[in-house]
Amino acid sequence: MGSEFDIERILWTEQEIAGRVAELAAEISGDLIGAAGPPVVFVGVATGAFLFLADLVRRITLPLAVDFVRVESYGSGTESNGAPKISGDLKIDIRGKHVVLVEDIVDTGNTVSCLIPHLRAKGAISVSVCTFLDKPARRKVHFELVGGGKFYRGFECPDSFVVGYGMDYDELYRNLPYVGVLKPEIRAFLVLPGCQRGFKRRFLSRNSPMASLHSAIL
Ligand code: PRP
Ligand code: MN
Ligand code: MG
Repeated sequence: MGSEFDIERILWTEQEIAGRVAELAAEISGDLIGAAGPPVVFVGVATGAFLFLADLVRRITLPLAVDFVRVESYGSGTESNGAPKISGDLKIDIRGKHVVLVEDIVDTGNTVSCLIPHLRAKGAISVSVCTFLDKPARRKVHFELVGGGKFYRGFECPDSFVVGYGMDYDELYRNLPYVGVLKPEIRAFLVLPGCQRGFKRRFLSRNSPMASLHSAIL
């Protein structure tokens, strides 16, 4: 695949991810099977949740709808700074519906803390959170679920910078089918102050086959 050049170590393989996603889907399906009312709405947080959401809903054995929200974190792109803003809202009316908010990772908690009250205000009767990764070591914000909603997580993530399976660094690596830790030198280079985007791309294209492929299309 070529991207191994940029990855220090793999934390979860494609096979391990598939197994855990199937378990989560079975658990959620079991919890919601008796829920009365209209189809459950699975809300993915763009962009990072797109692969996990796609894999998860294919394993859910209930009638369901899918929608997306988009949140701008404002910051360097590597750390959310505590002031997220909803920049893309739901298309579906969730009034009177059970909602499962789907994330690739919960880190500081700012993103889900911003979204849960928003979904409640739109009339969801319950809001659960299903995150592929949970990084509790970095949590800054406590969040409360709505209407008996539950917190589901695929894996607890160590406090390392991870990419793949939807998660990016500077918009790269989302398409990796596994989750890995980015080599520190790749990350360190990309956060150099004043480092222009075109220069980053030239650096990556010399050093990273995967990033080179992306730089041609971004
Ligand atoms: C990442 C990730 C989560 C959020 C978690 O998204 O996908 O949505 O940060 O961090 P938090 O718990 O500290 O809020 P990001 O804002 O990088 O956007 P992206 O999904 O487009 O990569
Ligand atoms: Mn995200
Ligand atoms: Mg990101």
